[in-house]
Amino acid sequence: MIKPDGVAAKVVGKVLDRFEKEGFDLVAMKLVPPDLSRIEAFYSVHKGKPFYEGLLKFMTEGPSVAVVWEADDAISRTRAIIGATNSKEAAPGTLRNLYGTDNRRNLVHASDSPESAEKEIALLFRKEELARSPVKV
Ligand code: CMP
Repeated sequence: MIKPDGVAAKVVGKVLDRFEKEGFDLVAMKLVPPDLSRIEAFYSVHKGKPFYEGLLKFMTEGPSVAVVWEADDAISRTRAIIGATNSKEAAPGTLRNLYGTDNRRNLVHASDSPESAEKEIALLFRKEELARSPVKV
């Protein structure tokens, strides 16, 4: 997910370009309005943590772009592409290093396991919105 800071900074295209250049296949994509109850559900695992309220405020600043990508080893490769959670600590050349700001305003969210991917995709997309590109037979 490209967070509100990435949409506001107009770097959505740069993020998508990076994943396309890495060979990821696009499965689904949409601009998501900042709906508090959906964001609360999305980040329910962090409820009660010190950064939770600030995270909700940030994520409701504006729309996000939700994207589903498919690739071999997608989760570990995505983590390498985006860099550490704290943009200030993200390795040079990673997306968060290039376009993120700090621990909270960190440009993108990526699922950290197949299970969280399944839950997060279900919160953002209806089944019929998921395509396979290129179509796999
Ligand atoms: P994300 O990978 O989407 O997962 C949870 C989000 O909470 C994280 O990116 C940041 O946006 C935010 N976050 C995590 N840790 C902190 C922190 N220590 N301070 C502020 N925000 C944080």
